[in-house]
Amino acid sequence: MKLFLDTADIDEIREMNRWGVLSGVTTNPTLVHKERMDPEAVWKEILTEVDGDVSLETTEPQADPMYEQGVSLAQLGPNAVVKVPMTPDGLEAGKRLVKDGIRINVTLVFSPAQAILAAEIGAYIVSPFLGRLDDVAADGMYALRQICEIYDVQSYDTNVLAASLRHPMHVVEAALAGADIATMPYEGFVK
Ligand code: E4P
Repeated sequence: MKLFLDTADIDEIREMNRWGVLSGVTTNPTLVHKERMDPEAVWKEILTEVDGDVSLETTEPQADPMYEQGVSLAQLGPNAVVKVPMTPDGLEAGKRLVKDGIRINVTLVFSPAQAILAAEIGAYIVSPFLGRLDDVAADGMYALRQICEIYDVQSYDTNVLAASLRHPMHVVEAALAGADIATMPYEGFVK
C-alpha cells in the first residue's frame, strides 16, 4: 500500500520525502487555501517536488466548467490526477476526462454503491472518506473493506485510496483491508 500525504504544505512534503516513504500527495481546496498563495503556484510546486501522483481538485459544480477546469489541471504536470466529486455532474465531467486519457480521482465517496459508479466511469482512483463516515456514526472501515472486496471480485482496475484518515491505526486497518493507497495529514504520521 502506497502512503500519500494529505496536504498542500511543501515543508511537510519535503520532510516526508526525506524519510523515503512518500509515494504521492492529495490536495483539496481547503488545504490549498491555507497556504495563502496563488493555487496554481502551490500545485506546480507540489507537482515538481513529488515523485508520484498528485491529486488536484476541481471546484466547479457544473459538468461543463468542471470538465474544462479538469483539462487545465491535468496540463499542470504529468503526475497530476484530477479530482472530481461523486455527484452526477462529477460523473459526467469525469467520464469525459477519462475519454481524453486524463487520470481522475473520484472523491467524496461514502458508500460501496458510489465506488461502483466511480469504477464504471473508468476512474484511476476512488477516494472513500473513512473519517467523515465515522463522524456521522457510520463505520468507515467497514465501507472500505466492502469496496476493496467488490473491486477484487469484479476485477476493477480503479485504485482504492483510503481518505479522510485521522490516525495511524486507520492506515494499518486500510492496509489490512487491501487499500492501494492511504492518505493522511502530516500530523497523523508523526503521532
Ligand atoms: C483526500 O483526498 C482528502 O483531501 C482528505 O482525505 C479529506 O479528508 P478530511 O476533510 O476529512 O480531512
